[in-house]
Amino acid sequence: MDFKKSQTLKNLARSFAGESQAGLRYQLIVDMCNAQGYQAMANEIKKLAKNEVAHAKAYYTMITDRLGDVNNIEIEAGYPFEGTKLQDALKFSVENEESEANKIYPAFAKIAREEGFPEIARRFTLIADIEKQHAKIFKTLYKKLSDGTLYSSDKATTWQCSNCGHTASLTEAWKTCPVCGSKQGVVQIKLK
Ligand SMILES: [Fe+2]
Ligand SMILES: [Fe+2]
Repeated sequence: MDFKKSQTLKNLARSFAGESQAGLRYQLIVDMCNAQGYQAMANEIKKLAKNEVAHAKAYYTMITDRLGDVNNIEIEAGYPFEGTKLQDALKFSVENEESEANKIYPAFAKIAREEGFPEIARRFTLIADIEKQHAKIFKTLYKKLSDGTLYSSDKATTWQCSNCGHTASLTEAWKTCPVCGSKQGVVQIKLK
């Protein structure tokens, strides 16, 4: 099938748009985290934002490596503007990542295979696997923020200050680091 006329080309363009937005949406969440004193959470989400920008670039170059410059690709897609509160934003992120991982990218991979682009299909599948991991991270953050267990645990666990490296095994992380004075939001979050 001619790549220029394929559905796969449109799907790549849509994926590029979606990933670009995810990168920015996560940056907005990073800003919210920082504003509320959750610096360690901000750093975790910053890594995810960087991943999304890398995905956007991968999709972009899957188009331009094959076609060079393309003046315009029409796509139709709807985008949400919700999650202005941190907790909601984390929840929406879980949902978005899960829908990319379990529905959208597997469907795009299937179409790419059917249209004769196995290399593109493979990369949709690999990126879907990453989004699955992202969904897990957001789910953990959402759950811990919601039930107030970001910095507490049933049994003693090792907490580490991401600023000075101080560690201690406690059921609840310190409010203020005894070494450097950083606030609790700087303590690394347990993602597993
Ligand atoms: Fe992504
Ligand atoms: Fe993601």
